[in-house]
Amino acid sequence: MRRIRKAVFPVAGLGTRFLPATKAIPKEMLTVVDRPVIQHVVDEARAAGIEHLIFVTGRNKGAIEDHFDQGYELERTLAERGKLRELEELRRDSPKAGETSFTRQQAPLGLGHAVWCAREIVGDEPFAVLLPDMLHHGREPCLKGMIDAFEAQPSNIIAVSEVPMSETHQYGILGVGPPGRRGLMPVNSMVEKPPQGTAPSNLMVSGRYILEPGVFSILETQPRGAGGEIQLTDAMITLARARPFNAFRFEGRIFDTGTKLGFLAANLAYALERPDLGPALRDELRAILSPAGQKR
Ligand code: G1P
Repeated sequence: MRRIRKAVFPVAGLGTRFLPATKAIPKEMLTVVDRPVIQHVVDEARAAGIEHLIFVTGRNKGAIEDHFDQGYELERTLAERGKLRELEELRRDSPKAGETSFTRQQAPLGLGHAVWCAREIVGDEPFAVLLPDMLHHGREPCLKGMIDAFEAQPSNIIAVSEVPMSETHQYGILGVGPPGRRGLMPVNSMVEKPPQGTAPSNLMVSGRYILEPGVFSILETQPRGAGGEIQLTDAMITLARARPFNAFRFEGRIFDTGTKLGFLAANLAYALERPDLGPALRDELRAILSPAGQKR
């Protein structure tokens, strides 16, 4: 059995929904409390034992590369000023030398194309993909549960979460069979953004995948699909004809930080559970939501 050592983060998206905030900084660097969104997702990967982080970037994404570099001057200044707690946290978060790779998606041709751009760095081994917009907030990191399930029963695995039927047209949706070992459900059908009323279930593809490297040769020649883009879902449909695919149900909350509401809700949820911020934030929210607060 091959271990899952590498994770791909497609971070080339333009972030037009957050303009003007994302005019000069990548959307992945917007913060949920005091950590960039991409840092939260990297935290999840590292908690699952991922050893090599592969970022598929694009133009104007240099801040992501700088963020995951060691801040030598900053660290020296913090040490000189005796800010040892901050220093320790920075060091804990930074990947070690050689644990990151950056490659560019040179044109916005879709998620499938972005993943294909990582083929040479991934090589011939199963790997994880984490979509940075989707924050998975639960007791256990989503990817950790998926890797545990993979180790018990190797296959391609896609994380899913229930959404209201009225929202299925916004996501990839899976049709599944009854759960087997470790709650994995065999995938019977996959469809990218099904028109309203046609979805095979309400299980949305939530942006965490374990894939076999065979997906790369499929992506290589795959024509454009929905939205004129090379879709990862189409490549997975082809791969599933030959290889086992299972769905892993994530038990927790998912925040789509690619939408303004999801981004704001993530900030509140992550801040409310912090001992240093939660109680005071609760008071602030109560004041804002009280009739007197609304008049102010
Ligand atoms: C992508 C995937 C889709 C998935 C979604 C989760 O779509 O293609 O299957 O459900 O991410 O966010 P996108 O959001 O890039 O349109």
